[in-house]
Amino acid sequence: MRFSDSFLDEIRQRLPISQVVGEHVIWDKRKSQPGRGDFWACCPFHGEKTPSFHADDRKGIYHCFGCKATGDHFRFLVEKAGLSFPEAVERLAGMAGLPMPARDERTEKREAQRRTLFDVMELATQYFEAALSHNIGARARGYLNERGVSAQAQARFRIGFAPDSRNGLKEHLAANGVSAQEMVDTGLVIVREEQPLPYDRFRNRVMFPISDMRGRVIAFGGRALSTDVPAKYLNSPETELFHKRLTLYNGHSARQAARDGKPLVVVEGYLDVIAAVMAGFEGTIAPLGTALTEDHLALLWSLQDVPILCFDGDAAGLRAAERAALLALPLLKPGKTVRIATLPEGLDPDDLILKHGREAFADVLDRAKTLSDAIWGIETHGTLPETPEARAALEARLRERAQSIQDASVRRHYMQAFEEKLSAFFQPMRRSGGWRNEGQGQRGRNEGGQWRPGGRSQPSPRVVVSDMLRNSRLLKPGRADDPSPREAAIIMALVNHPRLVEPRLETLAALDLPSAAARELLGAVIDLVTHDHDLDGQGLTLALGARGHGEALERMRQLLMRQGIWQSDAEAAESDAETGLKHALALHYKSIELNRELKAAELALGEDPSEETFERLRDIQNQITTVDGTEALIEGFGSLSGRAARSL
Ligand code: UTP
Ligand code: MN
Repeated sequence: MRFSDSFLDEIRQRLPISQVVGEHVIWDKRKSQPGRGDFWACCPFHGEKTPSFHADDRKGIYHCFGCKATGDHFRFLVEKAGLSFPEAVERLAGMAGLPMPARDERTEKREAQRRTLFDVMELATQYFEAALSHNIGARARGYLNERGVSAQAQARFRIGFAPDSRNGLKEHLAANGVSAQEMVDTGLVIVREEQPLPYDRFRNRVMFPISDMRGRVIAFGGRALSTDVPAKYLNSPETELFHKRLTLYNGHSARQAARDGKPLVVVEGYLDVIAAVMAGFEGTIAPLGTALTEDHLALLWSLQDVPILCFDGDAAGLRAAERAALLALPLLKPGKTVRIATLPEGLDPDDLILKHGREAFADVLDRAKTLSDAIWGIETHGTLPETPEARAALEARLRERAQSIQDASVRRHYMQAFEEKLSAFFQPMRRSGGWRNEGQGQRGRNEGGQWRPGGRSQPSPRVVVSDMLRNSRLLKPGRADDPSPREAAIIMALVNHPRLVEPRLETLAALDLPSAAARELLGAVIDLVTHDHDLDGQGLTLALGARGHGEALERMRQLLMRQGIWQSDAEAAESDAETGLKHALALHYKSIELNRELKAAELALGEDPSEETFERLRDIQNQITTVDGTEALIEGFGSLSGRAARSL
């Protein structure tokens, strides 16, 4: 709830800040002057032996001259005792002997409702946990076992199993008095306007509950057990409880771990967090299928000054590291920064720990680069320019990076650090060794003649790999079934415009495409996009080619060309592609629904061969013809293209 300024002021007036802070520090008797409301102590936020932490009762603030921690009563409890703001207000109001203000009815209702949504999530968590331990969960248990997730880890992370049923959870919740609306509001069921009955979102998946910073389950991530579903991981959609951009997996326990002095480590996936935590890195967390956001950074910095961000050693990992570094740069504050760790190529933390033990991961963390070194690495690409022009360009780029830092003092120090580095590198001219100038932003060859990963938007070695894989596909048996133009339109819109994927990740992951070829492609698209948030159409096409999907893509492209459907093309504007995608999705749902109705009508006709049931069947058949044929004309691709409408 929101508190009025006057109420907060009243608390500040009534309670000397020294009393609030005094519960957590021992005042230095010699230096403090209680009579003047002037208190000194060793700072509770950083370790020190002589007091530089000051509380001023008259101003109602504390300030540490060492670590610059500063704030009022509320801030102190939030930062030191780990309370949420409302909790801090409640605690301090109690200390000040003030009753909490009456809540207005709307807020009250919203909060009550939120409470019940938390209860629903808790019910679901228990249902999934029970299913995992039951017979029905045997395969999932086997899977977890194989992946090295111990029973202890399963219990700690409250891992569960969603049975392969469209109604299992729904019925369990209903039996416990949960309303249909609550099931929708928690994102546990999927409803489609065109479909009469909602159904369970998570089916046949290992379930990872996602908690908020207070440890309450607010969402789930579900990992597929079989490979023929569109998404390896399916997450809860955004709900009133769950805001993906603000949430970190394992954030709640990591907060405590960080407070206990464990490093705060950001990895990519659920299983990476679990493996790391079980190996003793309890401060490990992960974002949830999104790139790290500014909000995440703010949250991280509220837990620890220098979190370590871990990235894969491959090209996508390097790009992600670069993106994170540039995201953090403008937001740096004195003392608040990040370090960047790079994993051995081809191993995520989970693999690394399983194969090489905790020491290997500890080593990766130890070798994490400071942010300024990371930026230096990004701008130099590991090679130093030789010509004066190129050097000047490097200097300008570094200066521009430093300029983007908002905090004046950090900015100044970055400038200085870069200047020192530049002169250290350039003063004694280095003509020997492996520095080789191939122009800025270029990938360099080292002495061994191997490729050095590097520049953005450079053609990648993946092209070569893709050809090899394309050929090897010829050896694979059996051609996948043919996708429909509608499916092709959906896939190609996403492939050519990957930015359309992330906003509708959950919808796409839950999509039930009839053709196996389309399903496989969709799965690969989701997988690639969730790993490399900056992929453009070209990059994605290359990556899909490298995974052996080149031929299937080409067939889809030709199918669309023959049909005169252009919205999904690489050349089409993203907004056109989005309109086309939405339309194709709507038609897809419509046809699924009609086909279901058709089956029901056929069944009804069998049991009751009357004029009426026959009419009903004919009606549905007509509608299907319409959807498959002329509906596209109304507002579909055909009309947008100005060409003859074609069936979707
Ligand atoms: P990874 O594909 O690296 O998964 O995705 P992982 O954690 O290594 O899992 P395993 O080892 O294959 O089981 C990293 C993260 O990206 C998100 C998830 O949050 C996942 O943990 N993701 C991935 C999705 O949201 N959807 C996907 O389809 C794939
Ligand atoms: Mn993994």
